Amino acid sequence: MLGGRTQTSEAAAWGQFWAGRSPGDEHRYRDPRVADVLDAHWSRYFSDRIEEGGVTSLLDLACGEGEVLRFAEQVFARSSDDLPRAICCDVAPPAVQMAAGALNALPVAADSSALPFADAAVTCAVSQYGLEYAGQAAFSEAARVLDAGGQLHALVHCRGGVVEAACGDVAALLTTVIDSNLFERMADYAKDIPLAAAGEVPDARARECVDNLRAALDAVGEALAIASHGPAREHVARLVADCRTLAGRLGHFAPSDVTAWINGQKSDTAAFQHRMTSMLDVAQSEDDMRGIVGRLDAAGLAVSPLSVLEAPGQSGALAWVVDARRISDA
Ligand SMILES: C[S@@+](CC[C@H](N)C(=O)[O-])C[C@H]1O[C@@H](n2cnc3c(N)ncnc32)[C@H](O)[C@@H]1O
Repeated sequence: MLGGRTQTSEAAAWGQFWAGRSPGDEHRYRDPRVADVLDAHWSRYFSDRIEEGGVTSLLDLACGEGEVLRFAEQVFARSSDDLPRAICCDVAPPAVQMAAGALNALPVAADSSALPFADAAVTCAVSQYGLEYAGQAAFSEAARVLDAGGQLHALVHCRGGVVEAACGDVAALLTTVIDSNLFERMADYAKDIPLAAAGEVPDARARECVDNLRAALDAVGEALAIASHGPAREHVARLVADCRTLAGRLGHFAPSDVTAWINGQKSDTAAFQHRMTSMLDVAQSEDDMRGIVGRLDAAGLAVSPLSVLEAPGQSGALAWVVDARRISDA
């Protein structure tokens, strides 16, 4: 189990998130300023690797849409080095299909805690906000597949960091929406108001539906008024506006379309909230990181001293930086 859910439903939740997206779509969870820092970090990392003698095979673990491979592709495009043989691996099949567009990567849908690769299969394994979702065992797995001299570089969600704070705010806003019962109130309203107009349910029930929907919209409106700007605020503001339009123009829509819309919004909002809370769950403390370093050490890797990636202009770190190398046999 992960965070109270089975791994299968975890994979399904991520699959739902990645399905229907295109590479480079604005991340629902990533501030563009953060994306710039990540870009600069990985550009420097891959440039250093090329200068050091190149990368023959590159594995992006929990790759999502393949952002790290796209950063790598840009760096390799500027160098005279041969492109590495790339593999993108994620538990969500729609993610690996997207990531495969970068560096012509081989898409592999797999859990990072049980990789379908032989020992010593790659020279470089990378991960950005990914391995920790599969638990600490995933770091041992990443070490297992590294060739002699091979390197692991991972950015890991950091407890008390900037991403955790942002996810906490977003999760709180989405939780207010769900706890307000907005979707249930909207469904009651859509079902009973037309019946009341036809004299098939009492006026008192119609008034109750109106009052309940208004109370839910007010609760969400209050949370929205103090929410930080960003994709979650936009998502909820659009939801509120659409609910108001729907309530005012109910007669213009087929009842089956209204039900499908409400159910779609509910599931989208719940999936969004779940992603945020799972990010909070996987944020690693300094103690957790010591455990990860211990695993890499036990797997025969030389681990650089732990460091953090800073968020310029913000207090707090963006990520733990894990950098390790399999000590060469030679
Ligand atoms: C926060 S996203 C990061 C994606 C990508 N690395 C990036 O930085 O954009 C976390 C990724 O981990 C994947 N994931 C979650 N649990 C996983 C597991 N057990 N094994 C492999 N991938 C997993 C999700 O599908 C998702 O793509």
